[in-house]
Amino acid sequence: MPTLPLADVAAALRAAGCVFAEDEARLLVGAARSPADLAARVARRVAGEPLEHLLGWAEFCGLRIAVGPGVFVPRRRTELLVRLATPLLRPGDVVVELCCGAAAVATALVAAVPGIVPHAVDIEPAAVACARRNLGDGRVYGGDLDAPLPASLQGKVAVVAVNAPYVPTNAIALMPPEARDHEPRVALDGGPDGLDVQRRVAAAAPRWLAPGGSLLIETSERQAPSTAAAIAAAGLAPRVERSEELDGTAVVGVRA
Ligand SMILES: C[S@@+](CC[C@H](N)C(=O)[O-])C[C@H]1O[C@@H](n2cnc3c(N)ncnc32)[C@H](O)[C@@H]1O
Repeated sequence: MPTLPLADVAAALRAAGCVFAEDEARLLVGAARSPADLAARVARRVAGEPLEHLLGWAEFCGLRIAVGPGVFVPRRRTELLVRLATPLLRPGDVVVELCCGAAAVATALVAAVPGIVPHAVDIEPAAVACARRNLGDGRVYGGDLDAPLPASLQGKVAVVAVNAPYVPTNAIALMPPEARDHEPRVALDGGPDGLDVQRRVAAAAPRWLAPGGSLLIETSERQAPSTAAAIAAAGLAPRVERSEELDGTAVVGVRA
C-alpha cells in the first residue's frame, strides 16, 4: 500500500499550488490502490487535473457523486437548486434535471425527498454514464436538452432543475485551468452572453411543467436579470434567489 508518506504527498501538492494540500493528500492516499497508483494520481493532480476526477467522486449535499474525466464537477453553489427544490416536492412528484452532468441535483433531491421520480438528460456521453451510476438506469437520457424526454411527462413535472453552461464564450479563457482544460467546452460555453442554452431551456420548460410547477435555473448574480427575462418571456413568473453562504444564484419561474 502507499509508501509515499502523507507529508510528502502534501508537500508535493502544496508546491503545485493546491490550497487544501493536506486534505487532498489524505483523500488521495485513502483512494490509492498501490504505491504506483498513488504516485500516478499525485502526478496527475500536480499537473492540474481536478481532485474529483482522480478520486472518482465529488461531495455534493453531503453525498458522494460519481464523476470521471470529461465530466463537469458539481460545484457547491449548485446546492442552492436542491435547497430551493426540496420544499416544492412530495413523494411521487416528477423531477427533471436538464443539462444534468453527473445528475448531482437529481441524486440529492432523491435523497432529500424519497419517492420522487427523477428524469435527467445530458448531451455528453461521459456525463450520461456518470448520471446513470448516480441515479440508476432507466431515467437518464442522452441528447439535446428536453428532446429525449418521454412525451408522457408533458404537463406533469413538478420541478425542472437546470445548471446549464452559462459562461460567456470569451470568458472561458479566464477560467481556472482545472475547469478550462479538464471540463468539456460544452459544459461551460453559454455563447456570446452566456445565456444561449438558458434561453432554450426557458422556452422548452413550460410544456413539461404541471400547473404550479417550477423551473429553477442556476445563474450568476450579474446574469440573473437576463435569466429572469428569459424565464418571463417563456410565460413563467420569475424571482431571483441568492445564497451568500453557497455563493449561489438561481432564478425560479413558476407556471400559473
Ligand atoms: C455547467 S455543466 C453542469 C452539470 C450539472 N448540472 C452540475 O451542476 O453538476 C453543464 C452540462 O450541460 C450539458 N449540456 C450542454 N449543452 C447541452 C444540451 N444542449 N443538451 C443537454 N445537455 C447539455 C453539458 O454536457 C454539461 O454536463
